[in-house]
Amino acid sequence: MVKSKQIKRIGLLTGGGDCPGLNAVIRGVAKPAHDHGLTVLGIQDGFEGLVEGKAVELYNKDVSGILSQGGSILGSSNKGDPFHWPEDIGDEIQILDRSKKALKNYEAWNLDAIIAIGGDGTMHISNKLAEMGMNIVGVPKTIDNDLEATDQTFGHDSAVFVVSEALDRLHTTASTHHRVMVIEVMGRYAGWIALNGGLAGGADIILLPEFPFNWDVVYDKVEQRSMQGKRFSIVCVAEGAKAQNEEMVVKAKDIKRTDPIQLGGIAEHVSKMISDNTKIETRYTVLGHLQRGGSPTPYDRILSTRFGTYAINLAMNKMFGRMVALKGSEITSVKIEEAIKRQKLVTTENQSVHSALQVGASFGVEEMDHNVVRWIGAY
Ligand code: F6P
Repeated sequence: MVKSKQIKRIGLLTGGGDCPGLNAVIRGVAKPAHDHGLTVLGIQDGFEGLVEGKAVELYNKDVSGILSQGGSILGSSNKGDPFHWPEDIGDEIQILDRSKKALKNYEAWNLDAIIAIGGDGTMHISNKLAEMGMNIVGVPKTIDNDLEATDQTFGHDSAVFVVSEALDRLHTTASTHHRVMVIEVMGRYAGWIALNGGLAGGADIILLPEFPFNWDVVYDKVEQRSMQGKRFSIVCVAEGAKAQNEEMVVKAKDIKRTDPIQLGGIAEHVSKMISDNTKIETRYTVLGHLQRGGSPTPYDRILSTRFGTYAINLAMNKMFGRMVALKGSEITSVKIEEAIKRQKLVTTENQSVHSALQVGASFGVEEMDHNVVRWIGAY
């Protein structure tokens, strides 16, 4: 039984890096909220808006026609952590705690709850704000799909779709010019985008942060293919992948971000190493933010809508401190503090890893590639 009378005003924000499906969640929250007579305050630019007092009321017309739109009508930021607030003081940047300011605005706006749509970082912040007394419901988003508590985050499917399409395009030019094509995909410290994108696009070599690779295995794979008359290879490398005994390739550091590290550059490195060591011509492509932009796939539109409507139901039932989650085909919820305990990473036990091996892909790891026979008929 929905106790709608008890909740009157909710705040809604999108935090961290954007991804397709954010607007579908906003719509999924706001439409039922309006139908129950609730006021929905759209907090702008994630937690930055909560600290700086930037918010606008969202009316029904504002959330109409946004289901298929990429990005977020509320804006987002990965620099607005109230507990890690960067402030320019003279020539230096100081990191301050602005959480009390956030609480003040929450109270001044008379909010009964905030629905925070975001990834790992947003959930960590939400948990700390909940400890300060705010009523929070979380909705898990990220193209990286690295939240343990949900089988899938929205945004991931759309990113994988982009990778898969890019790999199809790279295949035709790679085979025409007999080249090795290396594509760098996002995912931070998790390899889900590279694994699922590589599987969908038929990559010959998939390099993940979870499995540090051996250069010789990579060269052998490319050369073997060449000797078999397959005069091209496609390498799908996650931005966080690294060779054994090497570090991740970091593009830049920015202390204003909750996680200061900006990854990038591994594709160029892999491409150069392959061309230097096999004498086969290589090229690389960095897919970058194309993976985060544009319309959500139908799968993500459905998941986002289901997440959004479930989240407003949680809020109306005063089930705070919880994050919406997908378990199998059902939507449910978990405690935010549980949801942030572990990151979801690819393991050697993952069935998609076994499938990739069985169709001939290499992970650049000798033991895994050579043990492929173990997975044939294993289930
Ligand atoms: O977490 C989503 C993500 O796209 C990661 O895959 C990537 O490492 C990061 O954000 C990039 O962040 P930014 O847009 O701030 O460069």
